[in-house]
Amino acid sequence: MKIVMIGSGYVGLVSGACFADFGHDVVCVDKDAAKIDALKANIMPIFEPGLDTLVRNNVARGVLSFTTDLNEAVSGADAIFIAVGTPSRRGDGHADLSYVYAAAQEIAEAADDHTVIVTKSTVPVGTGDEVERICRETAPAKTLAVVSNPEFLREGAAIDDFKRPDRIVVGSEDEWAQDVLREIYRPLYLNESPILFTSRRTSELIKYAANAFLATKITFINEMADLCEKVGGNVQDVARGIGLDKRIGPKFLNAGPGYGGSCFPKDTLALLKTAQDHESPVRIVEAVVNANDLRKRAMGRKVIGALGGDARGKKVAILGLTFKPNTDDMRDAPSIAVVQALTDAGATVSAYDPEGMEEAAKLLPDVLMADGPYAAAEGAHALVMMTEWDAFRALDLTKMADIMAGKALIDLRNVYQPDDVAKAGFDYTSIGR
Ligand code: UGA
Repeated sequence: MKIVMIGSGYVGLVSGACFADFGHDVVCVDKDAAKIDALKANIMPIFEPGLDTLVRNNVARGVLSFTTDLNEAVSGADAIFIAVGTPSRRGDGHADLSYVYAAAQEIAEAADDHTVIVTKSTVPVGTGDEVERICRETAPAKTLAVVSNPEFLREGAAIDDFKRPDRIVVGSEDEWAQDVLREIYRPLYLNESPILFTSRRTSELIKYAANAFLATKITFINEMADLCEKVGGNVQDVARGIGLDKRIGPKFLNAGPGYGGSCFPKDTLALLKTAQDHESPVRIVEAVVNANDLRKRAMGRKVIGALGGDARGKKVAILGLTFKPNTDDMRDAPSIAVVQALTDAGATVSAYDPEGMEEAAKLLPDVLMADGPYAAAEGAHALVMMTEWDAFRALDLTKMADIMAGKALIDLRNVYQPDDVAKAGFDYTSIGR
């Protein structure tokens, strides 16, 4: 199959490289010439474990290539995937679909007759209908099927998620388009990954419902963590105690500083907007969005509390800045709210992150970026475990305590065990324990 990916960002690049690895012939297109030049030189625009090797191998095999020329790329394609960004529209939280619609028009102009256009970008219910309308208006003589095929990739684990998905969702009622998608995903089908065919609108909604549900699960356990702190419970035991119930399941029950990233915050907001537009309230998701916003700010207060309530003139070291490990993504990272609260309260902040400091420096210009965890902690009154990178799981806590000026350790990811931390002489604050 010849597959074209429009948009060589996170989703387009990972999906394109994985499709090529399955043996399809893939061309990744992007308007950003600098990005395409870099990709041709095997320089990835994002940090994602294993992606550079996957890209290099498939470029070498001649099944993956990069171009800025959409017209040339789509000629002869069986399927053209739209994987462009859908950021939150400034001001109102609606997903900004201008890139999707612009791509649809260009594709319709350039595609061969009888081509499948697949929307992989996360788009609100009904977007596929509009893409179809644009295609019909732009190229009335061509038969173009518009299909929804949402992605469920986690940053940092995207290649594995792509190759071993829990399910593949395809929204289309066109039988010939379903056949094309079935063929594209056949390598996964053989691994027994279920492929679910639904209507296009249902498929669009599944993506939002999945992310909103996961955000709800995290927010639920975060609030249980707060309650544990008040009543003397242990949230990790609560998570285990409920997670062993197969109806609940053990995953996404790690209490922390609140969810961040490019997906949950944006997608929950977009779902609220869709629900409002259709006068069908999603009150649980509304509560989740509010609780998560409040939580990120509360984490700053938690750190200040561990400093005795006054951060003025104090130095705070933060380990991990990205919204989760194994990514350099800083979008909506809880660290941003924590740093803001600390600097507002008069503290100076130093930090170390294995991959995220370049991105973080753009958003947090006042933070002193250190060379490593110990360098960040030198002379600090408090140490905050912000993101649970593997590199922070086995720190020499005694050494850490020796080089610090104070003894507060605030572990917002429950990486450490209270007994181990106490032995090193720290005053330990964690989440829900
Ligand atoms: C999420 C979904 O997990 C993917 O299935 C989906 O495809 C993706 O959004 C998307 O829409 O593109 P991602 O944002 O990469 O993936 O990261 P997650 O691993 O889901 O984590 C999101 C946030 O929740 C992070 O801030 C993480 O620290 C937090 N989290 C996650 C918790 O606080 N506790 C948990 O138990 C799990």
